[in-house]
Amino acid sequence: MAQHNLENVDTSEYPHINKGLDGIVAFSTTKSFIDGQKGELIYSGYNIDTLAENATFEEVCFLLWHDRLPNSSELEELKSDLIAQRELPSPVLEYIKTTNKDAEPMSVLRSAVSMLADFQAVKGKGSEEENLKHAVAMTAQMPTIIAAFDRARNGLEIVAPLNEGSTAFNFLYMLNGEKPGTAAEKTMDLCLILHAEHGMNASTFTARTICATESDMFSAVTGAIGALKGPLHGGANTAVMNTLLELQKQNGKADPVAFTKEKLARKEKIMGFGHRVYKTFDPRAFHLQKMSKQLSEETGQEKLYDWSEAMLKTMKNEKNIDPNVDFFSATVYYSIGIKPDLYTCIFTMSRVSGWSAHYIEQAANNRLIRPRALYIGEKNLDWVPLEDR
Ligand code: CMC
Repeated sequence: MAQHNLENVDTSEYPHINKGLDGIVAFSTTKSFIDGQKGELIYSGYNIDTLAENATFEEVCFLLWHDRLPNSSELEELKSDLIAQRELPSPVLEYIKTTNKDAEPMSVLRSAVSMLADFQAVKGKGSEEENLKHAVAMTAQMPTIIAAFDRARNGLEIVAPLNEGSTAFNFLYMLNGEKPGTAAEKTMDLCLILHAEHGMNASTFTARTICATESDMFSAVTGAIGALKGPLHGGANTAVMNTLLELQKQNGKADPVAFTKEKLARKEKIMGFGHRVYKTFDPRAFHLQKMSKQLSEETGQEKLYDWSEAMLKTMKNEKNIDPNVDFFSATVYYSIGIKPDLYTCIFTMSRVSGWSAHYIEQAANNRLIRPRALYIGEKNLDWVPLEDR
């Protein structure tokens, strides 16, 4: 493999080389603002703390899609549209029932979302009105896909969606086969609010890049799911929980401080920490930490919370690195009984609102996204016949 060290390469022709596009501004947006120094996050004008305290996930969806809060009839209309579209087309349900039970849930979600396009009369990029309909359809159907696959892979009867209730309530109902209590619904709803939108992260960039070729919204969201799945992005929450469960297996001998230090000494990343934009505590992590502490006490899982706190302090002392959204969301989901390999799917069923909002924004003011790469290979080599290689 070529070494991509650019020290001795003439880069004068390329004034904007930037590995990882760090700090590059490629779009303007009204969807969200992040102040990485202050630890501030705003969705379409509203601070995440205000939304966490007052909003529902459905209100946040409307906010992201329309850049304003809904009035009560608009909110009721959106809620009934979401409820009306929860059912899956039967071929998609059949796929979920028959696919490999050991498949990664994010892979199944990605494939199923891609299939949904076939049942929505998708023909290319669509008008803004059609795209809003597609955004509602995907937001309504993703929870059904996730819950149905989890039940199918465990040999359980698939639970049909309810004709009532919030996205959070219906998801927990379909997943567990019983209606959740108010506290569990509120926890899930808050998690959905906190994960809905986050600037030009890798999956949103993917969605906008696909949109910019004038491809359809289902293609953009399918690509975005692929990007979110990776452990450096949304897949980190599952990795965090797996770490804590590994510690739990050590039967009372778990030492999260030593574990963290040893990993750092090996130059390994600790999942759930660090961020490209935040150089301080991720404001979403504050809310999740509070929830994690409370839920771990309620469920007798204090150890998991204590270990998380010990890792947090060690990371701060050793590297001055703070947790991101994925760190405490792991223990929050665990406390409400969700299996670790579904965590990134939950991130997805929320983030679809942000991706679709960005798709609509990109489509309204589009230019093909086409950066360049610095070629560091050889040029114009002589052809060597096969038998001489
Ligand atoms: N553990 C240990 N060291 C870290 C970590 C970490 N989690 N994150 C950053 N660092 C160190 C890194 O080793 C590097 O040190 P040095 O300068 O000595 O080489 C320095 O901090 C800068 O890190 P980077 O990887 O160059 O930063 P980046 O902006 O390219 O990457 C990141 C950001 C989120 C990919 C990275 O922090 C990371 O890999 N974190 C762990 C995975 C994770 O939790 N991902 C979820 C991100 S938030 C949710 C989302 O948006 O998806």
